[in-house]
Amino acid sequence: MTNTQQTTVLITGANKGLGLESARRLGGLGWKVFLGSRDEERGRAAAEKLAADGVDVVPVQLDVTSDESVAAAMSVVRRHTERLDVLINNAGAPGNVTHPAEATADELHAVYDVNVYGPVRVTHAFLPLLQAAAHPRVVMVSSAGGAFSVVLDPTQPVAKMYELAYSTSKAALNMLTVRYAQALPGIKFNAITPGETEKQTFAATDMNQHRGQLTVTEGTDVIVRMATIGPDGPTATFEDRVGPLAW
Ligand SMILES: NC(=O)c1ccc[n+]([C@@H]2O[C@H](COP(=O)([O-])OP(=O)(O)OC[C@H]3O[C@@H](n4cnc5c(N)ncnc54)[C@H](OP(=O)(O)O)[C@@H]3O)[C@@H](O)[C@H]2O)c1
Repeated sequence: MTNTQQTTVLITGANKGLGLESARRLGGLGWKVFLGSRDEERGRAAAEKLAADGVDVVPVQLDVTSDESVAAAMSVVRRHTERLDVLINNAGAPGNVTHPAEATADELHAVYDVNVYGPVRVTHAFLPLLQAAAHPRVVMVSSAGGAFSVVLDPTQPVAKMYELAYSTSKAALNMLTVRYAQALPGIKFNAITPGETEKQTFAATDMNQHRGQLTVTEGTDVIVRMATIGPDGPTATFEDRVGPLAW
């Protein structure tokens, strides 16, 4: 069992990229990290590396598109702790950049299953553990591409990136964040985007073939900031690395 002082965090999609870096940084604060990975082997390998650096980490098989996997992950976490202080819904799928004229409902469904229904599955399953914490926080890893303020700005490249799945899934995630926050005032729900929107920068990861200008450490600054807010911290906000971002 986790000692009563130690902060606990579950991160989905933490076997690589921003999820893994969040695990490394929050583990470095002495937190107990539940490292979610849809592939058990990749999760174990990532956890072993963190553990070798002194992180208190438990790999957890967790495919956010599967109710069974999420339920099993909850049972694993519950064996180690009676409460979850922080949930980071980080797992994400980029989808294909298909022109809206060609996009099908099936294509959108696959992306929504990870980016929209995934965070709902995980949040719903872990609510009892979150509600058992003194000041629980949920960080939704969204995207500037899901912000109307960004997509409608002609100077932003995403304005001319013609696709439906990813941007609309992250817009839905933003609204989910607000609706959860309104309905559950005992939990802080905040959405973030890892980049610096005004400078049009994002973090280099597999998702963007490492074309990002920021390191994963820079990309996780806002994740760590929102994961570590105190009891008087914000809820129902949307921020990038620099600060608040218009929805
Ligand atoms: N990089 C950026 O600057 C940027 C900008 C805006 C938003 N984001 C968001 O940041 C989050 C992390 O992305 P990243 O850049 O770190 O990309 P990444 O390195 O490709 O990581 C994505 C993670 O999501 C996991 N994942 C995908 N489908 C999953 C599923 N069904 N169940 C569980 N995990 C699943 C992947 O697992 P596998 O290894 O098994 O595929 C991987 O661990 C995403 O939500 C993304 O939309 C990133």
